[in-house]
Amino acid sequence: KKSEAWSALFSEPMSELVQRYTASVFFDKRLAHADIEGSLAHAGMLAAQKIINAQDLADIQRGMKQIREEIDAGTFEWKLALEDVHLNIEARLTQLVGDAGKRLHTGRSRNDQVATDVRLWLRGEIDLIGGLLTDLQKALVEIAAKNADVILPGFTHLQVAQPVSFGHHMLAYVEMFSRDAERMQDVRKRLNRLPLGAAALAGTSYPLDREMVARTLGMDGVCQNSLDAVSDRDFAIEFTAAASLAMVHISRLSEELVLWMSQSFGFIDIADRFCTGSSIMPQKKNPDVPELARGKAGRVVGHLMGLITLMKGQPLAYNKDNQEDKEPLFDTVDTLKDTLRIFAEMVGGITVKPEAMERAALRGYATATDLADYLVKKGLPFRDAHETVAHAVKAAISHQCDLSELPLTVLKGFHASIEKDVFDVLSLRGSLNARNVLGGTAPTQVLAQVDRHRKRLEQQ
Ligand code: ARG
Repeated sequence: KKSEAWSALFSEPMSELVQRYTASVFFDKRLAHADIEGSLAHAGMLAAQKIINAQDLADIQRGMKQIREEIDAGTFEWKLALEDVHLNIEARLTQLVGDAGKRLHTGRSRNDQVATDVRLWLRGEIDLIGGLLTDLQKALVEIAAKNADVILPGFTHLQVAQPVSFGHHMLAYVEMFSRDAERMQDVRKRLNRLPLGAAALAGTSYPLDREMVARTLGMDGVCQNSLDAVSDRDFAIEFTAAASLAMVHISRLSEELVLWMSQSFGFIDIADRFCTGSSIMPQKKNPDVPELARGKAGRVVGHLMGLITLMKGQPLAYNKDNQEDKEPLFDTVDTLKDTLRIFAEMVGGITVKPEAMERAALRGYATATDLADYLVKKGLPFRDAHETVAHAVKAAISHQCDLSELPLTVLKGFHASIEKDVFDVLSLRGSLNARNVLGGTAPTQVLAQVDRHRKRLEQQ
């Protein structure tokens, strides 16, 4: 069978394999609504510029309306032989409205068309992702608000370091996800410019009004160089980079949830509906959702590597390589959206176990820094205080007790300035309350941050 899409130039048919290899319709049909939106804006401008007449425009609009309905109803017949979403829709349009359909492609190429479609589609997805990032932040802020007073050991090197508020720990993730949201907005700015009018690569000889098309499509301006317009996929890479970071943040949170739910920690429980059992071990309840999310982060980072490598060897301008941008981009969007949605729900399903957290904070001399700070307040230079406390910790280890359990007489042995009030700073709560600096873990600071986030997120 002869290729249906091309000109008389072609004299031999494509094999079934080559057709399948070069076609993108079975994945890029996802761009259909963006494609139609772009085509209608282009057609409206062609008519305004008198490049097509009013009747042509009306025919195109009528045909596109029907095509939209067919696509939504699932009755649109996608044809592999027509290669991609663009040719499928154009062919159907011509079938429905005749010559007007054939005029639509005036002053346009699939190269500027596809670049426009992907931008339009991704812009919509970025807006949805922004909403999902807000939902997840809200869920984290609420669990933080409820647990500002709950103490868990803060770790460095996964060794007990200093006591921190569980709420404070949750708000650390809120900061990460709020930066992710900012990054998405930033990508959106650079993405929201119009390639149409670049045509195949050099611009076009028709008197197009590109600014008008940009306005119709809600874009902030037009791409200023035709070669760049058709070949730039930076926006897709930037988006995938921002998505990768968001997934990395999800993955770090996941790692903590998995650890915390393990029997060795026992800090939290995750609602059953986010876990699965084992087919062999009856006692098991596994945190599948965070584990999978941690795995899917790898998949999204892989897409970033794929996209960035896709671009590195391409000469200007458009090359068919770019058709390979879609599957990684689509999968990145799907994976990120599902993950954000499920995490916003799951965070609400976390049961916090304050006793287990406090018990763990008490095992590991988390208040040693507080004792050093106490000695500094009594006049010791910090380095000397540090050394003195190291001796005290060593003694506590050999007595197998916490610093706060050493008798005052023993403590006094390390430094004469130690008095009874030392026990206030050696308690977990004393340590926590003392860190009352902006951004610190004292519950009053945590609650102030909760307030700030609530106000900020309400405006989004
Ligand atoms: N399906 C193609 C893509 O995704 C559309 C552009 C094709 N242009 C071309 N000249 N072959 O990039």
